[in-house]
Amino acid sequence: MSITQNYKQRKITKFTTEKSIYTEHNLIIGNALDVLDDPKSIKDESVDLIVTSPPYGLSKSYGKYSDKFDIDSWTGMIRQFGEKSMRILQPHGSIFLNISPIPEPKTKEIYPLDSYAYFALKQCGYFLRNQIIWHFNNMQNCTNRLSGRWETILWFVKDIKNYKFNLDEVRMPYITKKDKRLTGTGRNPTDVWYFDRINNMTKNKLNLYHPTVYPDRMIERILKMSTSTKDLVLDPFVGSGTTMKVAKNLQRNSIGIELDAKYKNLIKKRMGEEESDHDFDFTITHHGKN
Ligand SMILES: C[S@@+](CC[C@H](N)C(=O)[O-])C[C@H]1O[C@@H](n2cnc3c(N)ncnc32)[C@H](O)[C@@H]1O
Repeated sequence: MSITQNYKQRKITKFTTEKSIYTEHNLIIGNALDVLDDPKSIKDESVDLIVTSPPYGLSKSYGKYSDKFDIDSWTGMIRQFGEKSMRILQPHGSIFLNISPIPEPKTKEIYPLDSYAYFALKQCGYFLRNQIIWHFNNMQNCTNRLSGRWETILWFVKDIKNYKFNLDEVRMPYITKKDKRLTGTGRNPTDVWYFDRINNMTKNKLNLYHPTVYPDRMIERILKMSTSTKDLVLDPFVGSGTTMKVAKNLQRNSIGIELDAKYKNLIKKRMGEEESDHDFDFTITHHGKN
């Protein structure tokens, strides 16, 4: 493992009247399943939260990775991810796994990938806390079946009696504002979430050259809900780097793993593109190279 680039980004002092918060962000270029096994890259029980969207086998063009559909190998990959994550996840840690129902490439039969993933992670010993429905409208229309408008986010915990859940950080405005019985600070956001997908126009405008970019606000909700300042967040299939960017903005530490080195510059740019009122360090490491 060697550090190829290590630089301080924007040491902003103008807002730092209060005690400055320093965070670290490491992008590891390599195979997630190897990196998760390597204690030099990720220490035992060091990660507070894993949030990720693995490849779905949709034959998307990820460059180096062959994204071909085979349900048995896909489920095996998810089970390995779950087993290896046990080592690095803190006892109070959570996993948020975003998965879509997908059509089998030849027959177009729908595979509910979240069901396969549920059983794979259950076999590893995790407990399901919520099966969150991520609903969106901007998606293609079908003519021979109902148009798909949701994906799942499976929230698993390592210990069902001990996990972080900062409900007050993610409360939403009450629907009925005039009801005097509602004296609290807002309502529970429930397990059905609406966030628009990033459309191609936005991707082109921002030069986000990745096929599946998360909406920032959805990741913000997950990080606020399940971590505190300075906690360590891991995205083992980090793609365009959304999880790392949001972690930086919310003053969490982060590790992102990506197989395809072509996204390195995109992630680097996204990590530096917004003003930050705290110090942070961004490092790129190539796993397995000296
Ligand atoms: C669904 S995308 C993640 C997109 C991400 N949520 C975002 O906001 O950009 C999955 C990513 O995993 C990467 N990938 C596939 N297999 C991998 C592996 N074994 N290890 C690390 N990354 C991998 C792909 O190159 C792709 O960029």
